[in-house]
Amino acid sequence: MTALLQLINISFSHGQKNLFSGLNLNINKRDKIGLVGENGCGKSTLLNLIKGDLELEKGEIRQPNAVSIAVVEQFLPQPLVDLSLLDAVIDVLEADEQVYHGWKAQSQLMTLGFGIEQFSIKVRFLSGGQQNLLLIARALLQEPDLLLLDEPGNHMDILAMSQLQHFLRDDCNCAFMIISHDQYLLNNVCTKTVFLRDKQCSKFELAYAQAKQQLQQQELQARQRLQIEEKEIARLKATAKQLAILGRENDNDKLSRKAKSIEKRAEKLDASKTHTVQESGLKLKFANQILRAKQILSIDYYQVMTPDLSSELLCIERLIISPGDRVAFLGVNGVGKSSTLENIRRAFHQPRDCSAKIGFHEKTQLGYYDQELRQLDQRCSRIDWLRKFCSASEEQLKSALIKAGISYQEFDRCVASLSGGEKARMMFIAFALNQPNLLILDEPTNHIDLQGKQQLTEQLMSSGATLLITSHDRFFLQQIATRWLWIDSGKLREVNSDEPFYQALFSPTKATKQTNIADINLCPLLLTGQESEQLILQRIDMLERKLQLDQQQKPKRQKPRLQQQWQSELDQLWQSIT
Ligand SMILES: Nc1ncnc2c1ncn2[C@@H]1O[C@H](COP(=O)(O)OP(=O)(O)OP(=O)(O)O)[C@@H](O)[C@H]1O
Ligand SMILES: [Mg+2]
Repeated sequence: MTALLQLINISFSHGQKNLFSGLNLNINKRDKIGLVGENGCGKSTLLNLIKGDLELEKGEIRQPNAVSIAVVEQFLPQPLVDLSLLDAVIDVLEADEQVYHGWKAQSQLMTLGFGIEQFSIKVRFLSGGQQNLLLIARALLQEPDLLLLDEPGNHMDILAMSQLQHFLRDDCNCAFMIISHDQYLLNNVCTKTVFLRDKQCSKFELAYAQAKQQLQQQELQARQRLQIEEKEIARLKATAKQLAILGRENDNDKLSRKAKSIEKRAEKLDASKTHTVQESGLKLKFANQILRAKQILSIDYYQVMTPDLSSELLCIERLIISPGDRVAFLGVNGVGKSSTLENIRRAFHQPRDCSAKIGFHEKTQLGYYDQELRQLDQRCSRIDWLRKFCSASEEQLKSALIKAGISYQEFDRCVASLSGGEKARMMFIAFALNQPNLLILDEPTNHIDLQGKQQLTEQLMSSGATLLITSHDRFFLQQIATRWLWIDSGKLREVNSDEPFYQALFSPTKATKQTNIADINLCPLLLTGQESEQLILQRIDMLERKLQLDQQQKPKRQKPRLQQQWQSELDQLWQSIT
């Protein structure tokens, strides 16, 4: 196997925080690696070290031959936001190449599903998923030997996600390493998995699911070994102590010497005992209040415009939200989900602009999570931002940070230096302090690791929260939503589940409908019949797995209602392709 890169015994710290110590990793030609780890464990930092943006403390990154590396960043670089889509892509080329190779940028964008008419749209007006596709286009234009992708699936809807999977699995000619918290994506595109934990990495020549199983087995064995070793150390220490007392009381040198030698043995064993992995200790906790009222929000004939106000995205004829409703918004990338939520937020803070059309209960307290995390002031420290953003005492602020698993030393760390997941978690700490009674969450699971996602799901389900939410994670939404609103052809339709939306998305006949949406600059992806069939097969594969996993659980842990739902969707999907 030809090695592209060898990370040899590398160590690195951010200030006091030691992230890697003696870490080794090889990246070979044609490798398809999934890089997995908890929020803040150092995944993005590792990518920056490989790219050469940060300097190693110890160790070396060796390139047997010169390797060109391109990166798809976790966040959109700020200087791009005011450029047009095409200029933002061309910008990645050297100045002298921009004139002669500009056409490549156009072709790259079209391969990723953008239409020519979208090239002039300002980057700030693209949806989150479209911005991610733009970053991928920039990386590919550099024709790298190694592509490093930092959570590229964040913000993407299922169509864009499927396009990304298809590209990485079948069309990507170079080696890649992808960071993701999305198990389905990892299982589908990676043949190797690297777990980054506790300053080291564990490597497996397996896709995520099997690698995770092996890792858990190894951890269990290590814990069992450690238990035996600790028992033996305690036994040796107790024996040494007894012998020392006897030696002293009876003035017996032989016993005292024996005690010392046994104690040394215990110390040696203690120093070499099995290492078990320390978890981050981060906890995702929030709190909310429950409003006792018939309705909390009502909307009457309200037009949602594009962010640049140039055209109408959709019209909400009538919508009433009652306390305790957990409402999911469905729709493809760019259809207006985030704009709708942002408009509702604006109406709350600037009621004069649209008070006749969007009305809130007078006791409404809003908690808003925007997918770009714009409310976080990057210049502040963690605790200063909370001081500004929350009405709480010093004691409450500190207690909320500690409960979220953040140590005292970390309170004063600047928000700008936090990892993606650590930033996202700050918003939930603010909710824990402000305790809103209406939550608007726009893609809240982006950046959050798998454990955090599970904690968020459980709390949303049990807290009685009133919720307006978007997420590209279908599994997550299915668990929490009690109402479904589908943005379809410029209208908001209430449906009983997410099924009609996904059926329209996956049905070959309706797929052309997406083409119409693309025609009006809203959706970057056009589906051919063949691509649509491929999506159906991927969906079948995922549902079969979910069903199988659930059926393997103990009977009382199974979810019969969901099993039924998955089975009926499976029947329909099979029917549509046979
Ligand atoms: N400039 C900095 N100064 C101090 N600490 C930093 C700095 N940059 C990053 N860190 C810290 O280093 C740790 C690793 O950050 P990194 O962004 O690599 O995490 P990550 O594994 O990518 O996390 P996520 O899943 O949340 O994206 C985090 O705790 C982060 O807060
Ligand atoms: Mg990161």
